[in-house]
Amino acid sequence: MTDVPALRQHATTATAAVWTFSKPGRASLWPVSLVAPTGCPTLPRRITVSRDGSGTRIECLTERQSFTSWWKGAPEELFDLLWQCHYGNTLVQTQQADWQTLRSARDANRVTIRRLTPSRTEWTNVTADAEARHTMTADDRQRLHEAFGMLTSDGQLRGAMADKARQVDRLVDRAFALDVIRSAHTGSVIHITDAGCGKAYLSIALALALQQRGVVVHLRGIDANEHVVEQAMRAANYAGIEHASFECSTIAHATPIPTDVFIALHACDTASDDAIRLALTCGAQAMLVAPCCHHAIQRQLREHTVPEAVRPLLRDGIQRERLGDLLTDAIRREFIRGHGYAVGLEEFISLEHTGKNVLICAEQRRDAQIPSLEELRAFTSLWGVSSTLLEPHP
Ligand SMILES: C[S@@+](CC[C@H](N)C(=O)[O-])C[C@H]1O[C@@H](n2cnc3c(N)ncnc32)[C@H](O)[C@@H]1O
Repeated sequence: MTDVPALRQHATTATAAVWTFSKPGRASLWPVSLVAPTGCPTLPRRITVSRDGSGTRIECLTERQSFTSWWKGAPEELFDLLWQCHYGNTLVQTQQADWQTLRSARDANRVTIRRLTPSRTEWTNVTADAEARHTMTADDRQRLHEAFGMLTSDGQLRGAMADKARQVDRLVDRAFALDVIRSAHTGSVIHITDAGCGKAYLSIALALALQQRGVVVHLRGIDANEHVVEQAMRAANYAGIEHASFECSTIAHATPIPTDVFIALHACDTASDDAIRLALTCGAQAMLVAPCCHHAIQRQLREHTVPEAVRPLLRDGIQRERLGDLLTDAIRREFIRGHGYAVGLEEFISLEHTGKNVLICAEQRRDAQIPSLEELRAFTSLWGVSSTLLEPHP
């Protein structure tokens, strides 16, 4: 019979181990101290921790997204934090044995632990194995990193590009959770538009991952900067994207063409609004929009234009700035909802990799509850601001 301290010892001292926490219960909680190190904002549906000589890798799976990170602290500390989340099932696998733990739904302190014969046969490179479950394969990544000149002369990822590479990985994973992509199969055709594409890191990565699965991808990039448009075209050619075109244009002046997945990452200030408008006129099935700087609303926020009761929120510059961010994102979300989409704001990566880590994820839904734009107008006038999204457009 094994008790919890013995289980913890097996899990944290074995040369290689995989822990899986699943079945969160009603009493399960996700401690704040795990949000930043995992990048996962809410209680995951399942957590897989892989440990070997390379370190401790955590994969958190929520309903919509998977978050992967490396744990830098002691394994015991991680085990204790996860144990306190009160998952119903825990499986600890080592080369010696499996330990299966069931926790009573009624009384979280009632735990049954069974030792079973080891079920896992492959123990080489356990943490890399977890990596392989990501959408982008190692080959895709290599090709992508080469296409964008992200590698040093000895083939290592350049330090300055590590954050970008991680963001692209996460965003490709997120895109693969969209219904329109999940339902694609060999021979399906997917049209992707990337507005304010820059070098188009994400859209080329996504196109590559889809193409490798036999999906026919038509990729269109739009950017006002001619120089990056050329670079994106070269990278797409190197990566072997078969149907890619990049045009030098402002987003507001781009011609709408039918699109399945619309991407706009960090398009500056109100260019994100232009991107949202274009996505709607392109009839996008899904949008991934990561806003950049939010000056337009921030500039309009004044103490004398808002109700007296909320004026303290505008007394300091830093709060005005943050409030401006919150309002801008809320206005964009409600505007998109008002056009028949289910919309959520997510943090696609932890703040240490980019401060601009909010992603507006929207998917067209026939049954979506559509709030009226009048409600949104009432909301903006409460704050004494106006949004370009609500202005009449030609
Ligand atoms: C911060 S970069 C992001 C590039 C890329 N999306 C990424 O995440 O790597 C912003 C890009 O948006 C482009 N951009 C900004 N405003 C634009 C506009 N109104 N129309 C078209 N492109 C715009 C810039 O030229 C720049 O390449």
